[in-house]
Amino acid sequence: MTVLGRTAALVPAAGRGERLGAGVPKALRTIGGIPMLVHAVHCLASSRVVDLVVIAAPETEVDAVRALFVEHESGAEIVVVAGGETRQASVARALLVLPDDVDVVLVHDAARPFVPSELVSAVVHEVRSGHDAVIPALAVTDTIKTIDGSGFVTGTPDRSSLRAVQTPQGFSRSVLQAAHAAADDDLTTDDAGLVELHGVAVRVIPGHEEAFKVTRPIDLLLAEALLTKRRAARTNG
Ligand code: CTP
Ligand code: MG
Repeated sequence: MTVLGRTAALVPAAGRGERLGAGVPKALRTIGGIPMLVHAVHCLASSRVVDLVVIAAPETEVDAVRALFVEHESGAEIVVVAGGETRQASVARALLVLPDDVDVVLVHDAARPFVPSELVSAVVHEVRSGHDAVIPALAVTDTIKTIDGSGFVTGTPDRSSLRAVQTPQGFSRSVLQAAHAAADDDLTTDDAGLVELHGVAVRVIPGHEEAFKVTRPIDLLLAEALLTKRRAARTNG
């Protein structure tokens, strides 16, 4: 009999949030009075398919983040480690503390506070169905151009073959660990990018608009509005 392992979610949350501006690290910026990171972890936990969450926190905020999850119980087991200089380094540090019984790993940006729980379960389901790497993605709505260093267009890729990629991205643990172990440089902005370098097929499933990333100030406005809508739905429902 095969015993299924547990599912862990790694949450890189150690970024500075330079494009958002303002002093506090982005993951600790509040939406509706609650830090973005807490919203993100609660969305992961409410999927009921995540057993353990490992947060890579800003180096100076490790204790503060631990305290945050005593205050805001999520239902999942929470481990907090210090993140690194880059997103990839933060994920690598979180990977180091995974217990042996974890066999499926999600990586989810703290900066995507409102990922629907159904999307989290769909990614885990695809990995457990036999795909070693699974990413949610949306069609792009803008036309994308490639440009040269002097501000001139060099090409217009066919939009129908382009996708904007989100998180959580899901992996069988061995595949993600091997990809990180072999990465000697910061080559990619997502984890699937590392796995692709190893020739692993990456399965794409439909993403969700509410899994958007808070990057610029306008995204915070959208996040506040979405939270207001969700809270109203909970009160009325
Ligand atoms: N991240 C991390 N460690 C880093 C850099 C980023 O854990 N050294 C995390 C961020 O906290 C975020 C996710 O990776 O949850 C996606 O990164 P991004 O949106 O770029 O966040 P920041 O790096 O914080 O923002 P910016 O690039 O504007 O500074
Ligand atoms: Mg960044």
